[in-house]
Amino acid sequence: MRGMPLCPPQHTVPTASQLYLCRYMPTDLLSLLRRDHTDLQKELTQLLDPTASVALLRSSLDGVRLGLTAHAEAEDIVLSRYESVPGLEMLVAQARAAHLAQEHALSALVCSRPGTVTWRNHAAHLRDLVRYHALQEEQTLLPALRAHLADYPQLAGAFATERLRQLAMLQPSAPYVMSQLAG
Ligand SMILES: [Fe+2]
Ligand SMILES: [Fe+2]
Repeated sequence: MRGMPLCPPQHTVPTASQLYLCRYMPTDLLSLLRRDHTDLQKELTQLLDPTASVALLRSSLDGVRLGLTAHAEAEDIVLSRYESVPGLEMLVAQARAAHLAQEHALSALVCSRPGTVTWRNHAAHLRDLVRYHALQEEQTLLPALRAHLADYPQLAGAFATERLRQLAMLQPSAPYVMSQLAG
């Protein structure tokens, strides 16, 4: 996802998503992931609003693009060290496959014209993928990580650090102040 080019319907807008403003940082991995999952589904729902202006749709899409990319990249990097741990191999592989499917769906959405039927179909599909991804991780992957890993308490910090590092490397379509991306 990193470095994904903007397609013709996407333009720079004066304001961007407010999802990633500085907030309280949870110290539990489940809380961190759940917050991202919830935020992403809210922003994807905004993309389905037929009354939203094109500027608002573009702003929301920017939030989805940054948030989903940083979230998935951070998860992949943190989980990659456990891909050979007995009992976790399949779950880590499933998480990676889910991220690839989301990346494909996001690419289709970014390249569609805001507010069209095609746009809403792509947004609805991506929201379905994120919703399924959230259920899988929160109800299956996280309990398995907690059961198998002695260093589970450290994963929240590792994820938060990697997510912030990914956000710092991404190029928003609208101006961000880096200090606002911390939480
Ligand atoms: Fe996730
Ligand atoms: Fe994931």
